[in-house]
Amino acid sequence: MLPDKLQAKIGMRHFSGSLRKLTVSKGLVDFSSNDYLGLSKLPLPENVGTNGATGSRLISGHSDLHDQVENQIAQFHNAPAALLFNSGYDANIGLIPALTDRADLILFDQLVHASIRDGIQLSQAKSLKYRHNDLNHLEILLAKFSQEEEREVYVITESVFSMDGDIPDLISIIKLVKKYPNAHLILDEAHALGVLGKNGVGLAQQLNVENDIFARVMTFGKGLGCHGAAVLGSEELKDYLINYARSFIYTTALPQHALHSILNGYKTLSYSDDAVLQLASNVSLFNKLVLQNGLRLRFRESETAIQVCIIPKNDQVKKAAQILQENGYDVRAILSPTVAQGEERLRICIHSFNTEIEMGSMLQLLAKTIKTL
Ligand SMILES: Cc1ncc(COP(=O)(O)O)c(C=O)c1O
Repeated sequence: MLPDKLQAKIGMRHFSGSLRKLTVSKGLVDFSSNDYLGLSKLPLPENVGTNGATGSRLISGHSDLHDQVENQIAQFHNAPAALLFNSGYDANIGLIPALTDRADLILFDQLVHASIRDGIQLSQAKSLKYRHNDLNHLEILLAKFSQEEEREVYVITESVFSMDGDIPDLISIIKLVKKYPNAHLILDEAHALGVLGKNGVGLAQQLNVENDIFARVMTFGKGLGCHGAAVLGSEELKDYLINYARSFIYTTALPQHALHSILNGYKTLSYSDDAVLQLASNVSLFNKLVLQNGLRLRFRESETAIQVCIIPKNDQVKKAAQILQENGYDVRAILSPTVAQGEERLRICIHSFNTEIEMGSMLQLLAKTIKTL
C-alpha cells in the first residue's frame, strides 16, 4: 500500500481526469511520435562491439568511438566541441547547475521543457521566467537584474517549443543578450534537429548564428530517431562540463551500439536532404488542410513538425483523442497540469512519411468530432 498522502495525490489525478498511463499504440497512423523523419526504423548497425560501456566516461567507459562521435557531431553542427550526455534530460540537468552558482541569474522562457526546469531547480542560481517569446519582458529583466557584482546571467530558450511547435525570434534574442557582457545564451534544439535548416542542422545554423550561442543542446531521441544528447560549445566549455556536470560524471557512458546509432543518424542527415524537405512540404500541406477543414482558429500557428489543436478541458480533449485513435490515428491529448488549464490540446506530430490522405482524413474527422463535443 502507498502511504496515505501518496494515495491522496494519485486520487487527485483520477478525480481531475489527468491520470497518466502507459499505452502501446499498434498499427495506428503515427501522429504522435517525435520520430519526425522515420529514422528510428533504420536497421541496427552490425558488429557494434560490446553490450555495455562498463563504466562512466571518466573511469572505464570512454572509447575512441566516443571521441569520434563527438568530433562528427561538432563538425556537423559547426561547433568547436561536443560533449555527449545519455539523454536530453541528462544534458539539461547537468549543464545548468554546473554553470551556475548563488550569485548568478537564470532567465528562462516560461514554456521551456521540464528538463530545463529541473536543471534550474538543481542550480543554486536565482531564476526568473519571462513571458513566452516576449522579448520586451526579457529585456526588462535583463536591464533590472543583470548588473549585480560577480553575476553571470544565463538566458535559456528552445528552438522549437515542445508543446506549442513555435519558434522564438532568435536573432533578436541574440542581439539583446549581446548588450550584456555577462549574459550567455543556452538554446535547446531538441525539436529542431532533423527539422530546421539544410540537412536538419537546427535553428542556430539555419540562421547562421551558431557562434553567438554559448551552449546548444542537441537531443537524439527525436528527429535522429535514436537516443542520447550532446552539448555543443567551446573546447573550454566541454572541459569544464567534464569536470563539473554531475549527470555526465556519475553515470555509465553510452554503449557502442548507441554511438553507432547516433553516427548512423548523422550520416543519414548529411547524405541526403530529401526526408527533411519532405517533412517541410508535409508541414505546409498540413497547414493548408487545417484551413480547408475550417480548423485554423483551433490550431496554433506553427511551421514545424509540432502542430497543436486547442480543445479546453481534460475530458473533452481526451474524448477527441479517443475518437481519433478508435479510427486509426495515433493522436495524443496533452492534459493539464502538463499544460495550463484551459490550454489542453491535441499535440499532432507531422512526419516525412505521413501521406496527404492520412493528414486530410484525420483532419476531416477531427473537424467533425469537435462539432460533437
Ligand atoms: C525541449 C526538450 N529538451 C529536452 C528533452 C529531453 O530529451 P530526451 O528525451 O533525450 O531526454 C525534451 C524531450 O521531450 C524536449 O522536448
